[in-house]
Amino acid sequence: MSKIRIAVLVSGGGTNLQAVIDQIERGNIPAVIEMVISNRKDAYALERARRHGIESIYIGSKNFPNLKERNYRLEKILEERKIDLIILAGYMQILEGHIIEKYRNRIINIHPSLIPSFCGQGFYGEYVHRAVLEYGVKLTGATVHFVDEGADTGPVILQKAVEVQEEDTVESLAKRVLTLEHELLPLAVKLFAEGRLMVEGRKVRIKGGYSIGETGFNQCIR
Ligand code: GRF
Repeated sequence: MSKIRIAVLVSGGGTNLQAVIDQIERGNIPAVIEMVISNRKDAYALERARRHGIESIYIGSKNFPNLKERNYRLEKILEERKIDLIILAGYMQILEGHIIEKYRNRIINIHPSLIPSFCGQGFYGEYVHRAVLEYGVKLTGATVHFVDEGADTGPVILQKAVEVQEEDTVESLAKRVLTLEHELLPLAVKLFAEGRLMVEGRKVRIKGGYSIGETGFNQCIR
């Protein structure tokens, strides 16, 4: 099977990036990460990329103060590297409309809640888990979805739920949800790379079915 070419966009610690790298290195995903791009210079995700011999660059407000130029640079790199799939793995910046249009159904994002709950404007990082706890829902989880022009509104690829415990704090909940993210994101990338994701309107059909439990993609990442 030929390998797809991936760009991973990050802003932070990069544990989701690590989950994808690990599964590619284990030979479970027919893909190669061409480039890791961060909009934060000090993102630990950049260090993770370096350790695995993956090219990484910073494209942010310090080297590209002009937003238009920043987006142009980003688009140029994606084009030059002939990227098939863009992964937003904790990327804290809105992608420019032209890129979304050009890579329709080829950009995926991981969100730490069960979309359409606790998502959209302002729901990122720990704000998501705080809102979950304040609302008092009994279930939350993680969602991988394709990116469209809205905030967390694109077609859902995979979801998995986790119970909210009475003694949960923002930190404990974030940690449990992150474990799900590390399972779901590589699985979604694998399904994409194998050409098994069929987008029909809002719905994503998975060719051949799938079973999250059987992937062995649940692992502990620090
Ligand atoms: C994750 O919770 C992800 O869902 C959110 O940002 C966090 C990124 O974590 N969008 P990491 O950088 O992958 O460790």
